[in-house]
Amino acid sequence: MDHLADPLLLRQHCQSWRAQGLTIALVPTMGFLHAGHLSLLDHARTLADKLVLSIFVNPTQFGPNEDLERYPRDLPRDLSLAEEHGVDLVFAPEPQAMYQPDHATWVTVPELAKGLCGAARPGHFRGVCTVVAKLFGLVRPDWAVFGQKDWQQLAIIRRMVRDLELGVTIVGRPIFREPGGLAMSSRNVYLMPQERAQAPAIRQGLELVQAAVNGGELDAARLGLMFRAYLAEKLPEARLDYVELVHPESLVPVARVGAPTLLAVAVFMGRVRLIDNILLEV
Ligand code: PAJ
Repeated sequence: MDHLADPLLLRQHCQSWRAQGLTIALVPTMGFLHAGHLSLLDHARTLADKLVLSIFVNPTQFGPNEDLERYPRDLPRDLSLAEEHGVDLVFAPEPQAMYQPDHATWVTVPELAKGLCGAARPGHFRGVCTVVAKLFGLVRPDWAVFGQKDWQQLAIIRRMVRDLELGVTIVGRPIFREPGGLAMSSRNVYLMPQERAQAPAIRQGLELVQAAVNGGELDAARLGLMFRAYLAEKLPEARLDYVELVHPESLVPVARVGAPTLLAVAVFMGRVRLIDNILLEV
C-alpha cells in the first residue's frame, strides 16, 4: 500500500494506473475510520482494480464555531485499517497542500444545500463540494463511494457530478450501525457514556415513524410531531435540530409521504450533533 501526502504524486500515480487500463474507485473520508467507513472500502474494493482512500479533515467545510481543531485524528491506526481492507493508495495531505493561499474557486449547489444540515451549517456543503471536486480532479476515479448516513451530502454530490459532467459514478451505501442501532460516526467518541447508551433512541424514533406509515399515517406534519414527541420522552436532554420529510433527490419537503420519501433528523446531545435518516417505505 502506498501512502502519499503530495497531490501531484497522487495525480501521477493515478495517471499511470489509467495508462495501464486499470479502473479506480475512490472513498473520500476525514479519517478516524470506523466500521461505517470500512464498509464503504469493502464495497469499493469490489468495484475497481485500484482502491484509493483519501483522509483529509477539510478545513473549508467547518464553520468558525465547529470542531475542526478537536476533530478526532489517528493516521497510524487508519493506515493499518486501510491496509487490512485492501486499499492500494492512501492520500492524506496537509491543508496547505490542498488549498493555495489565494484559492478562489468554490463549487456550490445552493438549491440542495439550503435545508436540513445546510440550514444549521452555512458554507458546509460549499466546502464539501469543493474538496470532493478537487479529489475527483486529482484521482479521476471511475467510481466514488459515499455513505447514506450523510444523505444530503450524497444527493448534493450526485447533482454536482451530473451538472458538471464530472464522469464519476457515485455509489451510495447503507448506514452502518452499532449493535444498539446508533449510526456510526467519528463524532460518537465525543458522547458521554450515558449519552451513548441513550442515543439509539434516535433510530428507534425513525422506526416508530415507519411503523406509523405502515399503519396508514401519511401526513408529514403529524409524522414529524410523532418523532419530536418520542425524542422528548426518551431523550429529554437532547435538542432536536430538525426533523424533515423530504423528497430523497430534490430534498424538497413533502406534505404527505409518497414513494419515495426520506425522513431525516439531526439531534444535539450536549455539544455533539448526531444525524440519521430512513427512506420510508409505503
Ligand atoms: P466522513 O464523515 O469521514 O465520512 C466519509 C464517508 O463515510 C461519507 O461518505 C459518509 O457518509 C460515510 N459514513 C460515515 N458514517 C457512516 C456510517 N455509519 N455508515 C455508512 N457510511 C458512513 O463525509 C465526510 O467525511 C466528508 O464530508 C467528505 C465527503 C470526506 C468531504 O470532506
